[in-house]
Amino acid sequence: MQKVTLAQPLLEWYDLHGRDLPWRRKPTPYTTLVSEIMLQQTRVEAVLPLYERFIERFPTIQDLAAASQDEVLTYWQGLGYYSRARRLHETAQIIVNDHNGLVPDDKTTLRTLPGIGEYTCGAILSMAFDQTELAIDGNLLRIGARLFLVSDPINRMQAKRKIQANFEGLLPQKRPGDFNQALMDLASRICLPRNPRCTECPLAQHCQALLGGEVAGLPKREAAKPPVKVQVELFLVESQGALLLRKRESGGFLQGMWELPWYDSESHVASTKLKVSDKHDWLSTHLAQDPLKVAKMDYVFSHRHWLMTIFHYHTDEPFQVPMEKDILYQWQPLNSLAQLALPTVFKKALRILL
Ligand code: ADE
Repeated sequence: MQKVTLAQPLLEWYDLHGRDLPWRRKPTPYTTLVSEIMLQQTRVEAVLPLYERFIERFPTIQDLAAASQDEVLTYWQGLGYYSRARRLHETAQIIVNDHNGLVPDDKTTLRTLPGIGEYTCGAILSMAFDQTELAIDGNLLRIGARLFLVSDPINRMQAKRKIQANFEGLLPQKRPGDFNQALMDLASRICLPRNPRCTECPLAQHCQALLGGEVAGLPKREAAKPPVKVQVELFLVESQGALLLRKRESGGFLQGMWELPWYDSESHVASTKLKVSDKHDWLSTHLAQDPLKVAKMDYVFSHRHWLMTIFHYHTDEPFQVPMEKDILYQWQPLNSLAQLALPTVFKKALRILL
């Protein structure tokens, strides 16, 4: 009866040592949807200051569905991975339009919604609907690799399958959501990546890595590819207290966000490219003079490493840049930038130059 012996000490530990987190206080399917999407690949500490503000502004799924994408993105500022916010917004609209405003409680339907993968689906079903489903993220893989002594690299499917199968055998019928969250807390407080606190662990006597003296070497991981380096030219154009910004409604990377005009040296990213070589474009027309300043800056995203050259220009009069495909150019007052969804990379560039 391994099943009973392991879930029970874990849940007892959780009742004593679990974290008091705002999304755990009065969870509804909607708040669980929001918090679990915010928590994807993001630390609890980063989500804490933003979650309650978000729920205050969008207290129901109808409020979220009815909001503009711009406003949703603004409330997502600081969390990064903005595509999550766009997908959450889209998911809210689908739920309101097609599901009577009720978050679906079955796996098949949930998985059709934008932004809801296996992990988030399991989290919602277990935490909001008490269904016996696992929610395995990177932290739980670390626990699983140690608890079940899985030596394959945890970024490989084979390790994930083994760990999942082992956890499935332990998932209790009662409190499955707490079981998942207890493991999350164990990962953040006890089963740490380095220097785990095994002497305080409620599962110590079941941990095969601990019993075999192998905790420090687990989990194993295959080295990830480093982000691709790209040369990027960034234009900070100022006129009469305003800054020239643009927004692209499509084109993947940074889509829907306000950005400083930029282009990269890789011609294959054509949809995001400003053709500086083109004599007729706005840069050569309006910025023929030398820049005030030129600065260098680096910024690393998850898959890209921008090696930037930033050009700071000042023009006497704001000029109009015609809409180019679905790219909208607009002058925005410098003192209103705080209210815009402007990714961190551009804020840093502004800080360097202004
Ligand atoms: N990470 C993802 N979901 C979480 C949750 N519900 N509590 C704490 N950390 C989490």
